[in-house]
Amino acid sequence: MFTKADNEKLTRVGPGTPMGKAFRRFWMPFLMPEELANRDGAPVRVRLLGEDLIAFRDSEGKLGLLDRYCPHRQVDLYFGRNEQCGLRCVYHGWKFDTSGNIVDMPAEPANTPLKDELKIKSYPIVEWGGLIWAYMGEPEHMPEVPPEIEWGLVPDSHRHITKRLQETNYAQGVEGGIDSSHVGILHSLLDEDTEIPFRKRQISPNSAIPYLASDTAPRFFVRHTDYGMAIGARRNAEDDDYYWRITQFLSPFYTMIAPNKPGGPIMGHAWVPLDDENCWLFTMTWNATRPLEPDELDHGSVHTAVIPDGSYRPLVNRTNDYGRDREHQRLRSSTGIQGIGMQDTAIQESMGPIVDRSRENLGSGDSAIVGFRKSLLRMATDMESGIDPAPPKNPDWYRVRSVAIILEKGVDFLQGATDQLKAIQPEKHSA
Ligand code: FES
Ligand SMILES: [Fe+2]
Repeated sequence: MFTKADNEKLTRVGPGTPMGKAFRRFWMPFLMPEELANRDGAPVRVRLLGEDLIAFRDSEGKLGLLDRYCPHRQVDLYFGRNEQCGLRCVYHGWKFDTSGNIVDMPAEPANTPLKDELKIKSYPIVEWGGLIWAYMGEPEHMPEVPPEIEWGLVPDSHRHITKRLQETNYAQGVEGGIDSSHVGILHSLLDEDTEIPFRKRQISPNSAIPYLASDTAPRFFVRHTDYGMAIGARRNAEDDDYYWRITQFLSPFYTMIAPNKPGGPIMGHAWVPLDDENCWLFTMTWNATRPLEPDELDHGSVHTAVIPDGSYRPLVNRTNDYGRDREHQRLRSSTGIQGIGMQDTAIQESMGPIVDRSRENLGSGDSAIVGFRKSLLRMATDMESGIDPAPPKNPDWYRVRSVAIILEKGVDFLQGATDQLKAIQPEKHSA
């Protein structure tokens, strides 16, 4: 039974909450490099783990992430001027460098002690792996580098990353990402013979995998690992074999999905909390061994077009019912919504920003979701008793991948796929 108290603990990430404290031990991706492309460019409003912040790139290219509000009289620094290695509040001119030092106070006497006594809150921020990352915890606990997830290790040409706003708690997103049992239902097309969706035709029409269609009720096996969780979905294949699809959950909010064809691109997601009711959804497509082909960039239509105003809100969203087309739903698909990515988002947002998990009735297809909740609640509870989460201190634990593989019956899926589950190991981390 998942209680209301469990739900609070899982979903609240603001300052001082157990989960919020645990998340503050991780480097977290939050901006696309394009958002801070220019030196002395426009500062960017940031909301992360329930805090209001401002990000900027200074004259030397250094990145800064500061409290949004000026420590003098709380003016929003979004209106500040990014000039000569600092962000200047335009009310009385206090100016801050990327480390949060006050470097100028033009409206105070020249010898004012305030300049050295005061600082503005600032967090470290790095660009790595095609994204910009922040660390919001105590300096003494800062991991040296972000998690070494495979999409971050490959060259730019081998990966494609997009960002969009999802109007739910982060956990709702992760639960959708590891919920393999919805794939053949939510994302299905109508079967022309029976006129019933969900039965025969599966997911992507280019899927070369007959077993997805021939066995729509896979059995799920969950293994807790040092980085999070590996979830094996087992389907019947030929007489002596099973077809396994292994999905990864990497603590605290990353997932990876197996490719639909051998050697094809791998798909990953990150659901990063802005606050308790919104998250950034980063979607990654990558190939470890070669550049992506143009037709692989939007593999499975999981990437989504966004409004080009810096909000990263999808063009189809809650306010226009995700563009759902009832005629298409009647004749062609489960949902009438275009694209796997928005089908997922629509359904996750439809539960409300924070679903009340105490009202659910879980089935056997939900074992990965139960595993995820246990794993994160344990992390938050440990944090309360002074035990730090281990994954952020071990970025190399993240060098895993998802795989689809045929294994003989009786072979353990993690053992049978040991080699295939390892990420390609580039020489070194290039942060
Ligand atoms: S409010 Fe920012 S300098 Fe006065
Ligand atoms: Fe989905």
